[in-house]
Amino acid sequence: MKPARQPLRLLLAAVGAAAMLSFLLLLAPPQNLSFFSSYSYSPYAHRPKLLFLLAGQSNMAGRGAVLHPLPEPYLPHPRILRLAASRRWVPAAPPLHADIDTHKTCGLGPAMPFAHRLLLRGHHVDDELLVLGLVPCAVGGTRIWMWAKGQPLYESAVARARAAVADGGGSIGGVLWFQGESDTIEIDDATSYGGKMERLVADLRADLQLPNLLVIQVGLASGEGNYTDIVREAQKNINIPNVLLVDAMGLPLRDDQLHLSTEAQLQLGNMLAEAYLKFNSSRGSML
Ligand SMILES: *[C@@H]1O[C@H](CO)[C@@H](O)[C@H](O)[C@H]1NC(C)=O
Ligand SMILES: *[C@@H]1O[C@H](CO)[C@@H](O)[C@H](O)[C@H]1NC(C)=O
Ligand SMILES: *[C@@H]1O[C@H](CO)[C@@H](O)[C@H](O)[C@H]1NC(C)=O
Repeated sequence: MKPARQPLRLLLAAVGAAAMLSFLLLLAPPQNLSFFSSYSYSPYAHRPKLLFLLAGQSNMAGRGAVLHPLPEPYLPHPRILRLAASRRWVPAAPPLHADIDTHKTCGLGPAMPFAHRLLLRGHHVDDELLVLGLVPCAVGGTRIWMWAKGQPLYESAVARARAAVADGGGSIGGVLWFQGESDTIEIDDATSYGGKMERLVADLRADLQLPNLLVIQVGLASGEGNYTDIVREAQKNINIPNVLLVDAMGLPLRDDQLHLSTEAQLQLGNMLAEAYLKFNSSRGSML
């Protein structure tokens, strides 16, 4: 390197640094959470995570009204990550399904409060190491036949689950499943729901090579048609090990009488977390 060129290099470096700084100043401060979530980076992104697949239809994707300010259990946390549609780990911030359930306006769902509750209540010896990875896959208006093996929704969920565990991404803690409202319109959909759900659990377990994979179903709080009771009965009657039911019936609905309100989603998130923790501690004591 010729010494004579040093000052020029230094000058160029200084100009570059100044340009970068002014660029950063233009970007900062973050205007709001969605800005924060789409651009910030979590130091935990590459840690092994306890992963949860979020699957089903609109009430899993979230249609709860976005409140300002957001309730605390919806705020980003450095140890709650989300697998974006691009398959990159980003800090989770609502709406979690914005880039997955793209045909509708997504709102608040159960997964953020679920994750916050787990961080708060998860019994960990080394608590600071519990990092959660949420893998959104839910799409509004979908019937259970669309989630059968071979269908795009199923294949995409399996591919996203595999991408989530790849490269030391972590291990799957379970699937949170909230679906069935659209299967209450046609009697044939309703009466075949139980068999299709059992098939879905078996296929997921086989494809992910997790024979004991935990699946937490949410018992329907509403339906689009007249056969909600039939689907709810099917959900209750699924009798496979490690398939749980958390019943959302009675939680407050929005004016459309179909979608859970934000208050309901907060409660549901907590209920799902308690169900997971109870399951996990009973499994722990069996080992
Ligand atoms: C947050 O910022 C994004 C982009 O900067 C904007 O599109 C969005 O409307 C803002 N949201 C709120 C609630 O202000
Ligand atoms: C699940 O149970 C295992 C075994 O008891 C325990 O080590 C782990 O911390 C538990 N996970 C959570 C999130 O509580
Ligand atoms: C439910 O039943 C009522 C009364 O029989 C009928 O009018 C309505 O169209 C039904 N709803 C659906 C979605 O099929």
